[in-house]
Amino acid sequence: MKLLSPAKINLALEVLGRREDGYHDLLTLFQSISLADEIELVERKDGGLQLAGDEPSISWGEDNLIFQAVLKMKQRAVNSPGVEIKVRKRIPPGAGLGGGSSNAAVVLMALNQLWQVGLTRQELIKIGQELGADVPYFFHGGLCLGQGRGDLLQPLPDLEERAILLVLPPWGIATRWVFEQLPPTLTSSSKVSKINQFLKDNNLTLLVNELEGPVFARYPRLRKIKEVLKEREAELSLMSGSGSALYGMFKERNKAVEFGQEIEGSFPEVKVTIVKTLSRSQYWEAIGLGV
Ligand code: C5P
Repeated sequence: MKLLSPAKINLALEVLGRREDGYHDLLTLFQSISLADEIELVERKDGGLQLAGDEPSISWGEDNLIFQAVLKMKQRAVNSPGVEIKVRKRIPPGAGLGGGSSNAAVVLMALNQLWQVGLTRQELIKIGQELGADVPYFFHGGLCLGQGRGDLLQPLPDLEERAILLVLPPWGIATRWVFEQLPPTLTSSSKVSKINQFLKDNNLTLLVNELEGPVFARYPRLRKIKEVLKEREAELSLMSGSGSALYGMFKERNKAVEFGQEIEGSFPEVKVTIVKTLSRSQYWEAIGLGV
């Protein structure tokens, strides 16, 4: 079984408040993009579990989210099945692009088929929720509103296709650290939501990511890149999730290519890739599970 595991960007992220469970209540917009990891699964008749990947900065041991997903499925499968999984990583880790979460969701769905576990979609989503706050989104894809920890999803109508200029710094950022930096003022719920406004008028240009403040304070270079993207009239230029990736959204691909070259020239430490948004149906076609 060969599958793709697409990344996401957040078109907006607003923090509503702290929760008792250590998480934060959010309002966010998820959007699938065409950047994707490749995952190959081969059933093992001897019951063994094996995970390997081509990205040395990632642990491929039991702490990997894919491995945890495999263990959760094995508990629910009969006859103690085995699997060998190989991952070609294209989504950089610690970038706010949901790579690990996407991998976990895709592997849950794949093993449900491969091992004929017979779990319902809701049961799979619940396992995903236990693995991480971003995992449930990858059972929907396309454009979704996320609430709660970001794991209560409402699918929204697809946007028109956009080109995405992804700016990838050579280092990742730990999500937990970013949330720990939030000032108490940010977590009061007494502000007007730009996302609610977007839901009424579909205007993307006012959307914000409230995690940019603490990240840009620590990494001023990222703020500079965002300013350049803004000057070049990206329809929307934001950090994705808790960073470190930034993106500019463009209606025309050639503009994204042009500004990408400019950014690579001015910021030689970053890598630039041009991808595109995926509609919900394109997301499911891309994965290749036939669901
Ligand atoms: O769920 P996940 O393991 O991806 O979250 C990583 C960390 O990010 C959490 O342990 C928490 O500190 C922080 N987080 C948060 N509020 C969210 C999502 C993540 O505080 N809604």
